Amino acid sequence: MEGFSSYYAAVSKVIEMYNTNPSKADEIMSEQFSLYFHKKPFHGVCQFIFLTLLRNKFLIECSIGKIAKKKPRKKVESLIEAAFAEIIISEDEKIPKVIHGWVEFAKTYLSKPEANFVNAVLRKAKFALNETIKTGSLSQIYSFPQWLIDRWTDQFGGETTLQILKLSNKPSEVFFRKAEGFSDSTFSKYSQFFTPSKFDNFYILKSGNWNKVKELLSEPDFYIQDPSTTFAIDVLNPKPGKTYLDLCASPGGKSRYIADKIRSWAKKENSLDILKNDKETLLVSVDVEKRLRLLKQNISKIDFLPARVLACDLLNENLSQKLSEQNLPTKFDAVFIDAPCSNTGVLRRRPDARYRITPDDIKNCSKKQLFLLREYCKYVKDGGMLVYSTCSIDNEENQQVAQDFLEENHTFEPIFSKTFLPEDENDGCGVFVFVKK
Ligand SMILES: C[S@@+](CC[C@H](N)C(=O)[O-])C[C@H]1O[C@@H](n2cnc3c(N)ncnc32)[C@H](O)[C@@H]1O
Repeated sequence: MEGFSSYYAAVSKVIEMYNTNPSKADEIMSEQFSLYFHKKPFHGVCQFIFLTLLRNKFLIECSIGKIAKKKPRKKVESLIEAAFAEIIISEDEKIPKVIHGWVEFAKTYLSKPEANFVNAVLRKAKFALNETIKTGSLSQIYSFPQWLIDRWTDQFGGETTLQILKLSNKPSEVFFRKAEGFSDSTFSKYSQFFTPSKFDNFYILKSGNWNKVKELLSEPDFYIQDPSTTFAIDVLNPKPGKTYLDLCASPGGKSRYIADKIRSWAKKENSLDILKNDKETLLVSVDVEKRLRLLKQNISKIDFLPARVLACDLLNENLSQKLSEQNLPTKFDAVFIDAPCSNTGVLRRRPDARYRITPDDIKNCSKKQLFLLREYCKYVKDGGMLVYSTCSIDNEENQQVAQDFLEENHTFEPIFSKTFLPEDENDGCGVFVFVKK
């Protein structure tokens, strides 16, 4: 992939790779953009065009279909799609220049007849896009599979579904969470690069400032995190003197938030200096072996309370045995299960996921989620809490799983139950809290 002299070549190639193997958008992004392009001046623009294409794939395909009777070969199709994506993000008066750039590139990249074809299609691009937006179905306009739109319409109604479609196509903001330990004087040096959000201690990175703030990532009290990831923990409000088991914990966003909440309480109670060696307080974070490196890195930043990390495949291994081998308790005051899910609440962060997920995936996720609840509710002490959360907004993975669990488990009572839909400043998620009688 090295050696491209223009973003046209780079982005055409990336889109061609995606079109050839659509299940690999994440890998294409991280491999091609991070490894090869990171020093190239067109890295940002390539990424922007690729993400725009992913958010508008059906709109673009349908609009191209209005102009071209026959589908061209992948190389030509990918170049045209890239150009359409750039047209979508360009102001009207700049579009002729954008088209000119792509046509000139096509002359060097494709055969002469193909370049002529590109020219003919792009000249009608804006008209075709407008036509699709005017007369197309929601699936074509917002580039979401029809089955998912139908499913959301059944679950949330038409108006809310439209809102979810619009929000899921909004480029996602980067949120930083500033914990209490981060000094105000240090933050004041960076505050110009952020806008405060409506959530306490969450800041939105102003676009184009990534390089100016990236050193904050090594700070123990500054963390990239969407506000929705803290909703479940806010319901529980963790405190010193209690034990917490965080399951499915990697990369560790929730573990760090649990620890920060405990630290805030300890500060209020003037017990911060004894927290580190407190025998009553404990946080154990668990995930599969292959996700442990990142989790360990994050947990190592929690140096103010006893925190441990454990590798366990929660679907196939014996957690109780692993805890005992490490002299850790097998009953906790609270157990968090941040279950793997379909990610339907975070689609704006993963614009290609909508094309991959199927109704069967949602069903399979819900089976695993119920298994996790059934199995790991056993680690909650009497009177303790069980917190179940997902990044999904789907009823089958949220309310339905909680309901099925409660029908089987009469020792648990629900005290909080909500699906948060995506909003301007937060992703969607499910949060369910149960207390053990
Ligand atoms: C939604 S993510 C967790 C995010 C994390 N709680 C945080 O706040 O940073 C779901 C996690 O489930 C983990 N997971 C999936 N299958 C698992 C299994 N069989 N055993 C343990 N963890 C699993 C994944 O590795 C992933 O880290």
